[in-house]
Amino acid sequence: MYNDFAIFTGRAHPELAEAIAARLGRPLGKVDVFEFSNENIFVQFQENIRQRDVYLVQPFVSPVNTSILELLIMIDAARRASAGRITAVIPYYAYGRSDKKDQPRVPITARLIANMLETAGADRVLTMNLHAGQIQGFFNIPLDELNALFPVSAYFKSKNLTDYTVVATDVGGEKRARDLAVRLDLPLAIIDKRRIGNTETAEAMHVIGEVEGRGCLILDDEISTAGTIVSAVNALRQNGAREMIISCYHPVFSGPAVARLRSLDAREIVVTDSVPLGPEKRLPNLTILPVAPQFGDAIGRIHSGQSVGALFQ
Ligand code: R5P
Repeated sequence: MYNDFAIFTGRAHPELAEAIAARLGRPLGKVDVFEFSNENIFVQFQENIRQRDVYLVQPFVSPVNTSILELLIMIDAARRASAGRITAVIPYYAYGRSDKKDQPRVPITARLIANMLETAGADRVLTMNLHAGQIQGFFNIPLDELNALFPVSAYFKSKNLTDYTVVATDVGGEKRARDLAVRLDLPLAIIDKRRIGNTETAEAMHVIGEVEGRGCLILDDEISTAGTIVSAVNALRQNGAREMIISCYHPVFSGPAVARLRSLDAREIVVTDSVPLGPEKRLPNLTILPVAPQFGDAIGRIHSGQSVGALFQ
């Protein structure tokens, strides 16, 4: 097999990488990553990684395209340093919505990035809640997809929510919301959302399910501009919903998201730390659940050749 394992981080989310390493009782490995004044990224591992099992932690977060390229360069450097095996640990995989050619002359960027990771030399990928499960199939190398449903449902279970309905923000998110509803033993509602063109404007149309007089626990995979959530909350209030809890796995919180979320007067907003959130994004009603335990345990299992699926039992 391989020599011992080592975990390194790019510049995207070092706090999460540190927490993952701590879960495994190790310090992070030493690597220099910086940008020259001409924006060219430089990477140099500062310790021997020959034949080691190397994990590179880098969610695709702002600046997204830099985060992606930086990970590719780290993989290339690790390959050339004779790493035994390289796992790209990508807690948030951006471009997930570009997963099919559903209009003329558009790219499938999620697939392009998968190709680039393989070309750079990644042997495996470890990620969490891809926008669509089919993205797994864009890779010809093994991919493990963790599920934030476990920490999120455990958190809400401890809250003993009664008179609540779990709400999917669109038909595509129905299974995700149903999985949570089943775990919490709550009913499910779905918003019939229509996107308008390729803009970031979303419009919620109809609510399918019973929400009148009930609290609503809205679940989405990611909140980007929060346009979807605003439309969902408006539609639910128009249908007589009482109060709102908002939850998502990946808090991208781009552009107007924070102002929009602040204006919603939600009881609570519950997210994970798959994406870093600076102080300006930490709303008073925000709860951040850690994903490092899942990633740490998964890395331990991958390294020792145990089942990762057993984590989901
Ligand atoms: C869309 O299909 C996704 O599940 C999310 O609803 C979407 O990414 C959220 O984006 P925004 O917050 O910009 O409306």
